[in-house]
Amino acid sequence: MIKAGFLQFDPALGDVAGNIAKVDALLDAASDIPDLLVLPELALTGYLLKNRAQAMDLADTADRGSQVEALQRWARSTGAVIVAGFPERDRDHVYNASILVTPAGDRHVYRKAHLFLNEKDLFDPGDTPLEPVDVDGVRIGMMICFDWYFPETARVLSLRGAEVICHPSNLVLSYCPDAMRTRCLENRVFAVTANRCGRDVASDGQELRYTGTSQITGPGGEILLRAGENESVLGAVSIDPAAARDKWITPRNGMHEDRRTDLYGPLV
Ligand code: ACM
Repeated sequence: MIKAGFLQFDPALGDVAGNIAKVDALLDAASDIPDLLVLPELALTGYLLKNRAQAMDLADTADRGSQVEALQRWARSTGAVIVAGFPERDRDHVYNASILVTPAGDRHVYRKAHLFLNEKDLFDPGDTPLEPVDVDGVRIGMMICFDWYFPETARVLSLRGAEVICHPSNLVLSYCPDAMRTRCLENRVFAVTANRCGRDVASDGQELRYTGTSQITGPGGEILLRAGENESVLGAVSIDPAAARDKWITPRNGMHEDRRTDLYGPLV
């Protein structure tokens, strides 16, 4: 068994130092930090960035920058594996990425494959494989927010052995938490969807409101925990990742075995 959790909060747009202080305070106030903790998409910069230049300006590289350093510090000080969204710079590219950091200092990066709306003006489309990583015997996959809308994302992670999908998000539409029940059921995996709450207001007055309701979902599609719409909260539950290794739907129906790839031409 491991304890898996989300940190739902309300980052301020563009204020990386202030957002790091906010997470410091939330972690200090928490009585119990889970073994695996997921933070939202673009957790320490806010989401509604003006343009690509601002995304580039706020971005860290995978091994350097105040966001990545804060995440590593939290992983070290709490002993948790932490997954969080951040803008990632790689030479003249900038990605809407997530990073998994371990207490021992290992890092893995996933770059969002399916960019939502105006993200297409800010970020390069992700080019990292949908490949889970093994952390202390648990197969952890990552996808970011709108990736949920493309069932292939979770399917590929599950076919490659993911047991827990970490899903940093900045959701603005309310369908996702319910849809994640189906993503988890059809793939028989756990998912931790860490959404933010509050709103971003850009300098031109444009505003986005986020839907909260971060959720931990089980391999039977069950909602193990769902946060409120507007609370800053660290929520966690105990899960048994081994339950995601049982892909039998009935004694005669295996999620992998029964796939009819001979009929799935356009997908494969
Ligand atoms: C989203 O992908 N942030 C909606």
